Amino acid sequence: MSEHTWIAILDYGSQYSQLIARRIREMHVYSELVKYNISAKDLAARKPAGIILSGGPASVLEENAPLCDPAIYDLGIPVLGICYGMQMTGQLLGGAVRKGKAREYGLARVTVVDSDPLFAGLPGELDVWMSHGDQVDTMPAGFAVAARTGTCPVAAMVCRSRRIYGLQFHPEVVHTPHGTEILKRFVFSVCTCRADWEMTRFIEESVAKIRATVGSGQVICGLSGGVDSSIVAALIHRAIGKQLHCIFVDNGLLRSGEAAQVEETFGKAFGMDLRTVHAGPLFLDGLKGVTDPEKKRKIIGRIFIEVFAEEARKLGEVNFLAQGTLYPDVIESFSPLGGPSVTIKSHHNVGGLPKDLKFKLIEPIRELFKDEVRELGRKLGLPDRIVNRQPFPGPGLAVRVLGEVTPERVALLQQADLRVQEEMEKLENYHTIWQSFAVLLPVQSVGVMGDGRTYENVAALRIVESQDGMTADWARIPYEVLAALSNRIINEVAGINRVVYDISSKPPATIEWE
Ligand code: XMP
Repeated sequence: MSEHTWIAILDYGSQYSQLIARRIREMHVYSELVKYNISAKDLAARKPAGIILSGGPASVLEENAPLCDPAIYDLGIPVLGICYGMQMTGQLLGGAVRKGKAREYGLARVTVVDSDPLFAGLPGELDVWMSHGDQVDTMPAGFAVAARTGTCPVAAMVCRSRRIYGLQFHPEVVHTPHGTEILKRFVFSVCTCRADWEMTRFIEESVAKIRATVGSGQVICGLSGGVDSSIVAALIHRAIGKQLHCIFVDNGLLRSGEAAQVEETFGKAFGMDLRTVHAGPLFLDGLKGVTDPEKKRKIIGRIFIEVFAEEARKLGEVNFLAQGTLYPDVIESFSPLGGPSVTIKSHHNVGGLPKDLKFKLIEPIRELFKDEVRELGRKLGLPDRIVNRQPFPGPGLAVRVLGEVTPERVALLQQADLRVQEEMEKLENYHTIWQSFAVLLPVQSVGVMGDGRTYENVAALRIVESQDGMTADWARIPYEVLAALSNRIINEVAGINRVVYDISSKPPATIEWE
């Protein structure tokens, strides 16, 4: 039986690294990112069938460029270097890399000169996506050119005897139409992987891993009712049952009906050890008189940690903290070069727990994309309304009630927002919407109701499409739907007499208003 089961991706920080893993998982072969400088020995111990060296923002011509352990080229495991990964391969194996005359960014056309094995059966000319400044000038001994472009004489290189390959372009992006085919040739023809990986295998393997890690220890999980923490809780519960303790902090800033749903699903249906803390008044008290968005976020983050920590202490000895970190959460903060990242909005998590609470982290879904996580949730038997739930910010409705957050204004927004949820869920293409919600603006406007003049609140509708929340565009919602939303909110929610539609994209705006 072949042990050829997974592909390791050494991550040099390209925004596309995880996309490579995802493309391969779509081929039903498991793939995951590992640290760029993992030692050859540690990598070999995990028995990958193939190794991919990702792209990245660095240049091998710079000092301190992130490099792989050169011994990985001698493991006898096939290696594919992509962009930076190819340049690094060229350099480490004795070739030469130079700065290109111009940075090449965008579509290019390569001519295949040697199709075996990566281009086998593909057209002789291929459109590809390039994004590089450096390029391999002199190939290492034993390599041959596999493809070239007018400006890049070594657009792909091959050393069949050692099964080492390089692609200057990005096969993982949609702008390289035959890219998946090229990756498939590496995964199946070269690495001889079998296409037998599925989400159910991910569950089995995660359950085994969690059991081995946790042993007889205790795990705590902050449940927010969101997709990620819900699915993490369900997965860990499957592995260790009552050794998992979930804490749900109801901060009084949730969407209408959400707190009840969390208790119903996890406490009752799943029978988890769920401890709900009704802390709404505490949060609202802390927010009194505060209008600055960052201050609101900080206050909510601090109170959350206090409440969570107090509840955690009641549990006695707990060894692990489970978190629903996803790859996109990691990507913005991770850079192999440790470069600084700018805080646009302080996201709230439980990273800042007091020192007496020492947990090891378990992050069982950190390799997955949101839609993969949803598939996992369905396989774990979570109800659709949780699996398909839209992302919701940690600070909750506090960042959607602009200006001061009062109990009355939160209740008003909940009423308007409930109408948005109900109307949007009726849409056939609801699943194409990333988020849809109401925002309560800190302005009042004049209206007329019956014979009387009104002077009341304005609600904005924020409805966006997005792949990952990093960029977004306002959804082109049919006018009839906008009309229904506006009519229902104005007629049914006392205190709102005007509704506007937000037509800003991200960037330069953000999805949330605060
Ligand atoms: P922005 O507003 O920055 O939001 O475009 C991007 C995505 O992140 C969500 N968001 C948060 N999620 N904690 C979270 O877990 C937060 O503090 C937070 N703030 C924003 C937002 O809803 C959108 O999906």
